[in-house]
Amino acid sequence: MLPSASLTVTDNRSGLTYEIPIENDAIRATDLKKIRTSENDLGLLSYDPAFLNTAACKSAITYIDGERGILRYRGYPIEELAKHCNFLEVAYLLLRGKLPTQEELAAWNYEISQHTFIDESIKKVIDGLHHDAHPMGILVGTVGAMSTFYPEAKRIFDDGARQKQIVRLIAKMPTVAAFSYRHAMGLPYAYPADLFLPGPVVEDALGLERALDTLFILHADHEQNCSTHAMRTVGSSHADAYSATAAAGAALYGPLHGGANEMVLRMLEEIGSPDRVPGYIQRVKQGGLKLTGFGHRIYKSYDPRAQIIKDIADQVFEVTGRSPLLDIALELERVALRDDYFISHKLYPNVDFYSGIIYLAMGFPVEMFPVLFAIGRTPGWLAQWEEGLLDPEQRITRPRQLYVGPVVREVLPLDQRQRQPGP
Ligand code: CMC
Repeated sequence: MLPSASLTVTDNRSGLTYEIPIENDAIRATDLKKIRTSENDLGLLSYDPAFLNTAACKSAITYIDGERGILRYRGYPIEELAKHCNFLEVAYLLLRGKLPTQEELAAWNYEISQHTFIDESIKKVIDGLHHDAHPMGILVGTVGAMSTFYPEAKRIFDDGARQKQIVRLIAKMPTVAAFSYRHAMGLPYAYPADLFLPGPVVEDALGLERALDTLFILHADHEQNCSTHAMRTVGSSHADAYSATAAAGAALYGPLHGGANEMVLRMLEEIGSPDRVPGYIQRVKQGGLKLTGFGHRIYKSYDPRAQIIKDIADQVFEVTGRSPLLDIALELERVALRDDYFISHKLYPNVDFYSGIIYLAMGFPVEMFPVLFAIGRTPGWLAQWEEGLLDPEQRITRPRQLYVGPVVREVLPLDQRQRQPGP
């Protein structure tokens, strides 16, 4: 007889035993509530400050096996998608759950192409920002402001209105990104051509457009990462898609997440030359400093995106030539991958290590790196946002806490208070 799918727990405080069902290899945290020591006890909580082992949703979008280095969108291996599809096909897959037919893809491409322009007033939002504003700050602020231009976006449970905002966001994100770049350079805005669409608009003789498109595919979704979690959390309060996307963009901006590709370049500049790599690695091992572009919460053998990106990097460098920073990066990779500290901590180059040096070789300014990541991640954010909204089990996100402050204190009148140590 098969063992039953349940967990038997004995609470040694009370000696009582509980049967907790297991479903999808998980227990429901709310089942722990019945484990109590008295009538007044609110029940056992699980404590997981950074969601190291807590599933916050069920999802049918992206599968990751971090131990074996597997990444699949809707069941399709990332390696095959990167080889056979373009970014808009993958966006369709993430959102609709299936790869498009030729007709469906043509209709989807057309729909996206009809929404790439932004309202002229949105340009004024960008114009209002300081001349040296970081393009990622411009992107986050502008996408947030876009919610005021499309009031129907509030009708999140109206399928037609929801699909319209999804298309608008995918279509307009590259435009806002490009405008943020032109603003930072003090250049007039350039209106969009059909950026992602095949055709004579952009001659891709060097293969750089295809390389960029593939990078977008690799970034398109990554299940419950920090920015996607922000997207779902803000979405769970029923805010519109622009507000939720702005929140996701803000989360992506951080140097531990999408901002890492920019920080990799800053680190390489700081190192300065390949012969200074061992000294830098030594500083990392002494603590207080992380090797940006290395390590991942989930991948503990290798990041499959990094493998694909390495091939793209080789193709790109053949066209663009190698830069001094690239030489430092390759030396850093070589030294770190042989070092006991990195081997024992299972630290490998992640997607951001290589994407930064490719963007640099393509001629993008460093500040644009996280913005490019945001363009790629937008379909994933939207697919996850929609999945969360339509999931009958999803309610407003509201984690619990372990309160560790004073139990109760009396407020003394101002003139009777003594200076006390914090908080
Ligand atoms: N360099 C040196 N040591 C590291 C690094 C690193 N890049 N990453 C982790 N460690 C060490 C860390 O000090 C700790 O050591 P010990 O157990 O001895 O205290 C151990 O490895 C576990 O690290 P952690 O910080 O607890 O791991 P985490 O899962 O909380 O963080 C991470 C994951 C990606 C934030 C982290 O590896 C990191 O900060 N990496 C550098 C930033 C980076 O490249 N981010 C991009 C991530 S991939 C794409 C994306 O998400 O956008």
